[in-house]
Amino acid sequence: MSNSAQFVIAGNWKMNGMLDESLKFIDSLTENPNPTAVEMVICPPYTLLHPLAKPLAEKGVTLGAENMHFEASGAFTGEISPLMLKDAGCHYVILGHSERRDMMHEDHALLRKKLEAAWKHGLEPIFCIGEHLEEREAGTTNDVLKDQLAVLEGTDSSLPLVIAYEPVWAIGTGKTATPEQVSETHAFVHEELARLGRKCKVLYGGSVNPGNAESLMACQGVDGALVGGASLKADSFMDIVGAAARVAT
Ligand code: 13P
Repeated sequence: MSNSAQFVIAGNWKMNGMLDESLKFIDSLTENPNPTAVEMVICPPYTLLHPLAKPLAEKGVTLGAENMHFEASGAFTGEISPLMLKDAGCHYVILGHSERRDMMHEDHALLRKKLEAAWKHGLEPIFCIGEHLEEREAGTTNDVLKDQLAVLEGTDSSLPLVIAYEPVWAIGTGKTATPEQVSETHAFVHEELARLGRKCKVLYGGSVNPGNAESLMACQGVDGALVGGASLKADSFMDIVGAAARVAT
C-alpha cells in the first residue's frame, strides 16, 4: 500500500484553506519532476477533502487528512471517522501532530487507538513525533522519541506507516534543526523503529522551505518532509518537491 517513491513531500495545511483558493492552488501546481522518486501529498482540512480529491488525483497528488476519531461511526459530535476519510478518497491520515498532543491533550493510549483504527480501515498513518525545546536542551530528545514510538510496540509491522519527526521548537518558528541534528535524530528514530520490527519512511518537519529543503532532504535517514506554512503556496510547495527530486538517487 505504501508508495515506493524515495521521498514523500506532504503538505499539512492545518486550519487553512478555502475552496476557491484551494482549487487555484491545484491549478497552479506544476508537473512533478520525478513521480517515481517523489510522492506529493496534500492534507487539507476536512471541508476540502471531498472537493479536492479529484483535482488532486488528476495532478498525481495523494490525499491525506490531518486527524480522525478512532470509532467508525456513532454519537461523537464534531468528530470525523476513518470511514469518512476513506469515503473522501484519503490514503493518508496525520496522527499525533504536536499541535494536537499539546492543545487537545492527545495521549499515547488515544493515539494507539487511532493508529489501530487507521489500519483497520485501510488508511496509512503519518505518525508525528518530536521533542519540545526544554527536552532538547535537557538532552532528553531520544528518551522522548523512544517513549512516543513505544505506542507502536506489538503492532503488526507489515501495516503501512510513515513517521514524521517534527521537533516542536522548529514548527512555525523559522528555526530548523541543523543537518547534524537531523541526521543524528533520524538515525536514532530508524534504529528505534528497527528495534520495534519496523522499516519505514521518516519525514522531517519544522520550518521546511524552498531555501533549506535540499540540504534537509540530503541528510542521511531523511525520507521526505511534512511541510506546514510553505505548503500553502503552490510555487513553494513545488520548489520543495523539486529539491527532493534533485537529491533523489
Ligand atoms: P511549518 O512547516 O509551518 O513549520 O509546520 C510544520 C508542521 O507542523 C507540519 O506538520
